[in-house]
Amino acid sequence: MRPQIETYPTREAMAAEVAGLLARRLRSLIDTQGYARIALAGGSTPAQMLTLLGQKQLDWRAVTVTLTDERWVAPTDTRSNQRMLGETLLASGANPNVIPLYADAPNPETGLADVIDGLAPILPLDIAVLGMGADMHTASLFPGAEELAAALAHDAPPAVALRPSGDLEPRITLTASTLNAAERHLYIAGLEKKEALDRALDLDDRMQAPVLAILDGATVHHAG
Ligand code: 6PG
Repeated sequence: MRPQIETYPTREAMAAEVAGLLARRLRSLIDTQGYARIALAGGSTPAQMLTLLGQKQLDWRAVTVTLTDERWVAPTDTRSNQRMLGETLLASGANPNVIPLYADAPNPETGLADVIDGLAPILPLDIAVLGMGADMHTASLFPGAEELAAALAHDAPPAVALRPSGDLEPRITLTASTLNAAERHLYIAGLEKKEALDRALDLDDRMQAPVLAILDGATVHHAG
């Protein structure tokens, strides 16, 4: 099933509209089930939207936030997604329960069990907000990674350690099965990302275009 694609005139408009949409969804979940669990994308694109989301009035104590993936760097490192979350959503006043995808271990392989222990009580997720790279990765499900097939498998664990090719940091990523249990929103900006999405939809090969593994029934939000 192809995703629904929402296009916005500017990145500012997309940030404002998606922040409002997510706030409404979180309030609705809290009203109906007493809590809400959301995984948020790392990277740079969602920063403005997360800052606006953090300003929304809702019962943040009933919300649990985690990340879709994490670079295996200290939470103080400028490359840390956890740090980015602190500088955006949390800096705006939101005080949710935060479940990090980082543990005090030398590498993601040895830290994975602790990360999964932290995730277990908050699964299944209600909402996942994901980014995408121009190489058609999402979360840290990178094409060419030797751990990718395991991360896309139906019986995958909640998260895996994954080493992207090239000079990117080792990662922890939520797996496709964990992400697909949630209402998914792909949040992308720029022509390069839209062309990559179109390429992925034409390719129909999840190993070359891992973003396809989370697009069925998802909503894509794109601004130029
Ligand atoms: C990460 C992300 C990743 C990100 C894309 C897009 O840790 O890098 O979670 O999936 O969403 O790489 O990143 P930008 O928004 O910075 O282009």
